[in-house]
Amino acid sequence: MNQIPQDNQGPIDVVIMAAGKGTRMKSRLPKVLHRLAGRALLAHVTDTAARIGARHVVVVTGHGAAEVEAAMSASAVGAGLQFARQEPQLGTGHAVQQAVPLLPDDGTVLVLSGDVPLIGEETLRALIAASAGERLALLTIEFADPSGYGRIVRAEGQGAGEVTAIVEQKDANEAQRQIREIYSGVMAVPAGRLKGWLARLDNRNAQGEYYLTDIVKLAAADGVPVVAHVIADALQVAGINSPAQLASLERAWQLRQADALMSQGVRLADPARFDLRGTLACEADVEIDVNCVFEGAVYLGEGVRIGANCVIANARIEAGAVIHPFTHIDGEKAGVTVGERSLVGPFARLRPGAQLGTEVHIGNFVEVKNSTLADGAKANHLAYLGDASVGQRVNYGAGSITANYDGANKHRTVIEDDVHVGSNCVLVAPVTIGAGGTIGGGSTVNKSTAPGALTVARGKQVSFPNWKRPQKTPKA
Ligand code: UD1
Ligand code: CA
Repeated sequence: MNQIPQDNQGPIDVVIMAAGKGTRMKSRLPKVLHRLAGRALLAHVTDTAARIGARHVVVVTGHGAAEVEAAMSASAVGAGLQFARQEPQLGTGHAVQQAVPLLPDDGTVLVLSGDVPLIGEETLRALIAASAGERLALLTIEFADPSGYGRIVRAEGQGAGEVTAIVEQKDANEAQRQIREIYSGVMAVPAGRLKGWLARLDNRNAQGEYYLTDIVKLAAADGVPVVAHVIADALQVAGINSPAQLASLERAWQLRQADALMSQGVRLADPARFDLRGTLACEADVEIDVNCVFEGAVYLGEGVRIGANCVIANARIEAGAVIHPFTHIDGEKAGVTVGERSLVGPFARLRPGAQLGTEVHIGNFVEVKNSTLADGAKANHLAYLGDASVGQRVNYGAGSITANYDGANKHRTVIEDDVHVGSNCVLVAPVTIGAGGTIGGGSTVNKSTAPGALTVARGKQVSFPNWKRPQKTPKA
């Protein structure tokens, strides 16, 4: 992880609790690997930890530990993660205890949950600042319905308002259950202090668990100030326990992303029918119709229009280009570029390495993979271009394909500038069609052709005059 020094509290070490079972997901997949906005819940949290410059990030695993560790190690931030196994799971205090051997004494420990994906970077910075290297800082929020959560108990009389305890729902008395300020599950605490308190936890409570929240009482007893950093944004502390909660947090998050784009000037036909599972950078006057999904890193240049029902991933779409409805673009690792004022779709498919120049037209049921199309090239209907270099102003006819794969190896097809490929042609790679050449419809071309030549490679047409078709034999 990065080691960005923090202002006044020294290094930050993050513990992410992710050992719980997630019974209510009713899934074989460990809960923290379920996806929000296209990424594992836990990956949202580890990314946020990386962004605040954490020194160590320790993930406490238990249920599905091997699967969680393998999935996270393979992810972008995986290399910086450490894992501590908690088996069996005896409570949140016990979970953090498992991470203790990996936590140096000089840092501030930030405790997060793997199933609370949308905790904000700024919120965490504020919480760490509130801890200031010496206090126990709790992230709290007021809920109209606080049931199920740990309640924040504050002192009355002398020292009124100071936090003295967190009482879990199942241990709370009637008066405590009326408290609407709840503990979010997120805290920042000096490591040295934390270790001492964890060692003193017991499990004498309604659930027979080691509660992390009991350290509040210990801090108060030790005279260490406990501060609450109260936020109003419930989305940031929303936990996932069920498919319904996952779906509703997904919609809430998508709406927030949609609002952010609209505030930059992006025109979404319907923010409730928009999904961004990655990053979307837009210039001015971008219009996006309903039911589009964006994945990975996507860039839309000025005035780009995206029709309804498109899925666009890992692509750069330059100014003035129009993507018509039902188009699927996925650049994966190699990327896809659509040049300025190009027209793509409806029903087109651009695969990794498709690089379209300016004013290229790709029409319905056309697939392009690992191919460059120079300015003004057109493939308007039912065609395949794979491993091809297509020159300027080439017109590539309906139903034509590059036969780029010989069963073992892929080969390139070169179509030079101003070539006209008729309909229903097969270009058997490796082959070069010389500049300005013409390929007659229905040709199978496996030898390179000279510039300017007309090439016809198909059975000669034969006609038999006055041909009588066979007659049906009458039944006896
Ligand atoms: C916890 C808090 C509660 C708070 C609530 C916020 C305690 C005792 N209570 O309650 O005050 O209002 O979160 O959501 O901390 N986990 C482990 N190992 C365990 C138990 C839990 O890793 O042994 C993990 C879970 O996977 C989860 C997180 O810790 O990611 C919180 O556990 P959960 O059971 O949801 O805590 P609550 O009982 O809801
Ligand atoms: Ca719970």
